[in-house]
Amino acid sequence: MRVLLTGGAGFIGSHTAVSLLEAGHEVVALDNLYNASPESLRRVEAITGGKAPLVIGDCTNARDLDRAFEAYGQIDAVIHFAGYKAVGESVSKPLDYYQNNLDATFMLLRAMKRHNCRAIVFSSSATVYGTIQKMPLREDFPTGCTNPYGWTKWMNERVLTDCASADQTLSVVLLRYFNPIGAHPSGRIGEDPSGIPNNLMPFICQVAAGKLDHLNVFGNDYPTADGTGVRDYIHVCDLAEGHVAAVEYAVEHPGTEVVNLGTGEGYSVLDIVHTFERVNDLRIPYEITPRRPGDVATVYADASKAKKLLHWQARRNLDSMCRDAWNWQKQNPDGYGKDKE
Ligand code: WQD
Repeated sequence: MRVLLTGGAGFIGSHTAVSLLEAGHEVVALDNLYNASPESLRRVEAITGGKAPLVIGDCTNARDLDRAFEAYGQIDAVIHFAGYKAVGESVSKPLDYYQNNLDATFMLLRAMKRHNCRAIVFSSSATVYGTIQKMPLREDFPTGCTNPYGWTKWMNERVLTDCASADQTLSVVLLRYFNPIGAHPSGRIGEDPSGIPNNLMPFICQVAAGKLDHLNVFGNDYPTADGTGVRDYIHVCDLAEGHVAAVEYAVEHPGTEVVNLGTGEGYSVLDIVHTFERVNDLRIPYEITPRRPGDVATVYADASKAKKLLHWQARRNLDSMCRDAWNWQKQNPDGYGKDKE
């Protein structure tokens, strides 16, 4: 089948393009390159030997969407990655986040109708579980967010669910990601955050590369084994394969399903630091600093529904997540850097 990837030049989009091509599907990417480089898709083609055409455009623009749906033949399904995704920024720019992330979904749904495409997989997030402290998190738990970014994910889930209720031919799979880290083992594609990274693994990689002096560990007074925050880290290649399973399910099953994409295991900040140091044979200097506002102690997934419904489960371990993350950073000290154009 031919799958349209909105935001397809990004970190998870480009890895999903690799997995879709390797599964024998075709891909078309629509990306406004606001937070991505076209180089990522050129490297997807180099890794797979397949085609990953890019339509440069915006999901909030009907004409750009029509171009993406028409340029390379019938689109059988969409995976919707495109959206603003910085938690902190969403607090200072809520209107930008609500307008962009919701308009993109509204316009995409209308374009799908115009082009007779009836299956969508949506990039949601464990952030919709808010501050629930009952672990592991299950898809039928109550949801509620603590920041505008999370609310845009929650609202998009609501919009998609209601549209599938109104149109019985529409298929929706809502994928709630936990903490995607790592990179394709080739080291040719990976996470390329702009500015100082907010997230743990890209920050550690830049400390390892000497671009940042040390890691600030946000609190060691949590009720966890070593006092630092625990999260469910998942290899981005496992996450990508989860998207292939989800889109293959969606095209066969109308209606809505919510699915966690996690490993079901939680690791602390210091577990990540120590594993990264061991597998890459280097030191990560760190200081303990106060907790980051909004953080909770422990978050990890009940991953059983993905296994039962999609016949998918994560299979890469923390060692490979840390090794692959550093391999990408080493080979690409400035990310896609000079190749950004
Ligand atoms: C992980 C752990 C921090 C940085 C975020 C978003 C979530 C999702 C995934 C999009 C926590 C600690 C971090 C640092 C640290 N994104 N940490 N020093 O907060 O679990 O989730 O990314 O959907 O929506 O909220 O990920 O990588 O920021 O933090 O100690 O410099 O690492 O306290 O315990 P998080 P993270």
